[in-house]
Amino acid sequence: MIPTRKQCEKIWQEYNIPAPIIEHMELVSRVCVFLGERLENKGEKINTEALKAAALLHDLDKIMIGRNEHNHGFLAAQILEKKGMVDLSGMIKKHALANIASTVNKPESIEEKVLFYADKIASDKIFSLEDRSFSWIENHPEAKKLILEKLPLLAALEQEILTKTDLKFEDIKNKFNK
Ligand SMILES: [Fe+2]
Repeated sequence: MIPTRKQCEKIWQEYNIPAPIIEHMELVSRVCVFLGERLENKGEKINTEALKAAALLHDLDKIMIGRNEHNHGFLAAQILEKKGMVDLSGMIKKHALANIASTVNKPESIEEKVLFYADKIASDKIFSLEDRSFSWIENHPEAKKLILEKLPLLAALEQEILTKTDLKFEDIKNKFNK
């Protein structure tokens, strides 16, 4: 089952999601819909409705997991599966940064790839992957090497999405940073 916007809002209330996280999920969702519709128009088979809802809920467990970031996404996916929202759980389970280098949880479907990418370029506004990487390193200096190792994998995913949508990164940035 794919939740409506109203149902997503109820889940935010149920889990006391702070406003900045909601605002981030809303921006990620808008980017996902923009990319999803663009892909549909290019003939790609993509479930934009599920993508939109998954984006609105993808950071549901951010507060609960605290510094246990290796659990990020898995807990949220579990909560949503229990609510019968299995269409969203794969995308959410795989959206954390570390999964780009994973053999088992790498984003593979087009919806998984778009949510993963949109989440990496959007915080409170749109930033390049390089700029986002610098701010992750600022917050987690101990993970600098791991983050820098992932940058080429992120860049390859970005290239795949930009090619399929026939967009430049600046097109996305200019659309959402006003
Ligand atoms: Fe996120």
